Amino acid sequence: MPKPQPKFVCQSCGTVTSKWVGRCEGCGEWNTSVEETAEKPRKPGRSLAFVGLAGTTEPPPRLLSGIAELDRVLGGGLVAASAALVGGDPGIGKSTLLLQAAAAVSKSGKRVLYISGEESIEQIRLRARRLGLDAAPLELAATISVRDITSTLEAERGLAMVVIDSIQTMWLDTIESAPGSVTQVRACGFELIRLAKSRGFALVLVGHVTKDGSLAGPRVLEHMVDAVLHFEGDRGHQFRILRGTKNRFGATDEIGVFEMTDRGLAEVANPSALFLAERRGHIAGSAVFAGLEGTRPVLLEVQALLAPNAGGSPRRSVVGWDSGRLAMLLAVLETRCGLRLSNTDVFLNVAGGLRITEPAADLAVAAALASAAMETPTDAGSVYFGEIGLSGEVRQVAQADSRLKEAQKLGFARAVLPRRIARGARPAAADGMVLEEIGHLADLVEQFSGKPKPKSP
Ligand code: TYD
Ligand code: MG
Repeated sequence: MPKPQPKFVCQSCGTVTSKWVGRCEGCGEWNTSVEETAEKPRKPGRSLAFVGLAGTTEPPPRLLSGIAELDRVLGGGLVAASAALVGGDPGIGKSTLLLQAAAAVSKSGKRVLYISGEESIEQIRLRARRLGLDAAPLELAATISVRDITSTLEAERGLAMVVIDSIQTMWLDTIESAPGSVTQVRACGFELIRLAKSRGFALVLVGHVTKDGSLAGPRVLEHMVDAVLHFEGDRGHQFRILRGTKNRFGATDEIGVFEMTDRGLAEVANPSALFLAERRGHIAGSAVFAGLEGTRPVLLEVQALLAPNAGGSPRRSVVGWDSGRLAMLLAVLETRCGLRLSNTDVFLNVAGGLRITEPAADLAVAAALASAAMETPTDAGSVYFGEIGLSGEVRQVAQADSRLKEAQKLGFARAVLPRRIARGARPAAADGMVLEEIGHLADLVEQFSGKPKPKSP
């Protein structure tokens, strides 16, 4: 038999090399090359028993944190024997959120461990006191050694929840690279997740996010866990959004909204009121979008500012929306509605720092742009929603009823929305609301051209 060749595999991207390399040629990561041990002689495996899809499997037991915004994003609470990853920028409030959740679960009589590799016991105690949680029967430890954690937890019984803050500080002594490196994060994640599955507790890993928005460490960690939640928000604003991007036990389109106060994170039951709190009516370039985040309607203010271009190619700057979508909308406004915007700098902002991904926002963005271009304010009591196609047609969007209901709840009396398809029923929620149905974007632009003002030089 020929002697097996040594094989080195990059632990980040999987590139195979015949000798060890400091920096992977495939992905450019440092210190990710690891020798794979030669294959062992083959033994026959056991044969698998296949089963049908229908069966008597119970839904997995859920662990409620009592923080409704968190439980909803998780699809109804944490799942026993599963792992969730909570990512977010440093300082956004991950530790605060998880300390609050862990304390709440422990107060319900369950055993909860909080293991921090970032903060000392004193720091965590201080924070708990500030949050008024110091009476919660939470068990704290400060360590970075995964070996110590696994040895301890193997012997523990009846654990409900374990928080690891953060996975980037964890360290396994069998691996040479430093904490936070790709190989360490992957190996530590694997050990901890294996433990959660075998001991039956809900594991929550905290992860930091790099500048480009991905979780620091290997993407593979996102594949290993059952749920990935992103905690986001502007540090300049007090509210925070928890967004599920992966969930093996539920939907991923729910958001949780929190407000950072001096006593920790408070749940925001009515996000629309918060997002619209600083809105000033009767300003050209502002329109309210009746949006949907998951199953929840949310009202948001879209702001557009147009400025004469000082030469060179015009600027298009977007915060909270897709810039490709803006380019499309500007082209439609120009070609289909005769609105000249090609020599204007366009700034678009979703007030409050939330990011909109729904195409239904098209009509609100168009209203903000048209209003800015005509220097005519939108009616402060109106909401807008509808998708816009390339020929300028306004298309139906999902769940008009719940959007209208939310708008009505917040005191909006008029909605501009897509035309009903063939004698469809008037949306049920809209009693007493004026519904203005629009078939083409040009009809919307016309609404603003009623009282044109001369454009200032
Ligand atoms: P933290 O949870 O430590 O963030 P992360 O773990 O994501 O790095 O939150 C840190 C910030 O939150 C800090 O800048 C202060 C602020 N904060 C409050 O405003 N109120 C509070 O009650 C707490 C505990 C923190
Ligand atoms: Mg932290």
